[in-house]
Amino acid sequence: MKKTVSFLVSGRGSNFNAVANAIIEGDIPATVGIVISDKQGVKALDIARQLSIPAFFVNPREYPARQDHEKAIIELLRKYETDLVVTAGYMRLLTPYFVNAFKNRIINIHPALLPSFPGTHAQKQALEYGVKISGCTTHFIDEGTDSGPIIMQKAVPVYDDDTQDTLSARILKEEHQILIESVKLFCLDKLIVKERKVFVVR
Ligand code: GRF
Repeated sequence: MKKTVSFLVSGRGSNFNAVANAIIEGDIPATVGIVISDKQGVKALDIARQLSIPAFFVNPREYPARQDHEKAIIELLRKYETDLVVTAGYMRLLTPYFVNAFKNRIINIHPALLPSFPGTHAQKQALEYGVKISGCTTHFIDEGTDSGPIIMQKAVPVYDDDTQDTLSARILKEEHQILIESVKLFCLDKLIVKERKVFVVR
């Protein structure tokens, strides 16, 4: 039985686009579910509509509490029988309520080699720190910030003349690859989570 993959986004949507295309082209054995954004008018929603994927803007301002906003999102995800949630540039922290509703079924992409540089502006943090290598990480989301079990990582060099833009672009290319690969492994039932470690079944 193919798994249904849905996406939470807040902006540009290039990671969502890469994974959705991989599913549509048959490189990942899955079905695309829906795309939900917490921001109106973002590029990710346009891409979803172009790909004929159901796309929703769930406005956080319409809900008094964070949990009510999440509840509305969970209802939509369930309505479309979502097995896996991919947070692809979703700029909102998920509460334990959401995390438990999709325990070990939420994959996030982060533009640094975790546990270095969690949170926002990871590429800026890496440049300011002066690391010589950075990269990206896919992980399952737990209750903390970018702290869940790591699925895959890819390193890229950091050059002396890098700007946030050049480093981000180098990392982004790899983000798309490891996110596609991680989602594929999940959909093939090849990821096993034991405490904070993820094992790939060969
Ligand atoms: C990516 O760098 C991702 O790692 C980070 O936010 C950015 C989103 O880019 N969490 P996009 O919307 O997928 O193009």
